[in-house]
Amino acid sequence: MSSSDEYPEYVAQNVAVWTKANAEHTGPNARGAWAQDEITWGVFEIPERDLDVLGDVDGLDVVELGCGTAYFSAWLAKRGARPVGVDPTPAQLATARELQRELGLEFPLVEGVAESVPLPDASFDLALSEYGASIWADPNRWIPEASRLLRPHGRLVFLRNGTISMLCMDLDGVTEQLQRSYPELRRIEWPDTKEVEFHTPAGELIDLLRANGLELERLVELYAPEGAKTHESYSYVTPEWARKWPAEELWVARRR
Ligand SMILES: C[S@@+](CC[C@H](N)C(=O)[O-])C[C@H]1O[C@@H](n2cnc3c(N)ncnc32)[C@H](O)[C@@H]1O
Repeated sequence: MSSSDEYPEYVAQNVAVWTKANAEHTGPNARGAWAQDEITWGVFEIPERDLDVLGDVDGLDVVELGCGTAYFSAWLAKRGARPVGVDPTPAQLATARELQRELGLEFPLVEGVAESVPLPDASFDLALSEYGASIWADPNRWIPEASRLLRPHGRLVFLRNGTISMLCMDLDGVTEQLQRSYPELRRIEWPDTKEVEFHTPAGELIDLLRANGLELERLVELYAPEGAKTHESYSYVTPEWARKWPAEELWVARRR
């Protein structure tokens, strides 16, 4: 795939949704996210220092798959990493470029999908996705790509919604009832926005990682910490719910 004409069929609708999100919230909120000094994870902003998932990133070549407005890459660049951001939504990349110029923190941004990344084999120490490829790209295509991009012993780290939260999610947010069968998590097309998401069941995802030369090292299930507040833009899950069940999960795998 070398141009957007050849993207998988679900990408155009997802890009439309992210173009709208960029105008409504990710664009306006990006400046604050870029300015943040601490690395945090997920809707309840759990500090990386409490989880220690990334370790020292100084000097690492990092590819962020589905970088959006690239605030996560910016946090890594501030710590001495050399990130490259990949995303198919031009509006998200435009926000990232504007902030790069404004803050003098420049790194490459590539317009493309995680299913077919126009970057060379074995050129990164860390492949990262924070709700990017991890839920918006077909795992049967983006996991092999992430593996291809990693050097031997490089790491793949990604954040996605918790399995239990996706089982209980309806159009208004996360409920306390099961809303779908487990196999339906493989591909969800939301009836209102027509967005397509991928939340592969855990056992299948571990097999897929292994089949692509990646060994799972950690699966960190994230709960809302004491004092957490409902996120302004991502209010689909409340801290009350997320203190009882893990709303999000961080996966860490290493290339053999
Ligand atoms: C929640 S945002 C990513 C958040 C990101 N961590 C940030 O810093 O803004 C999701 C992003 O995934 C991107 N995306 C959608 N489909 C994708 C695909 N097939 N491959 C890679 N990224 C994709 C969207 O364009 C969107 O910018």
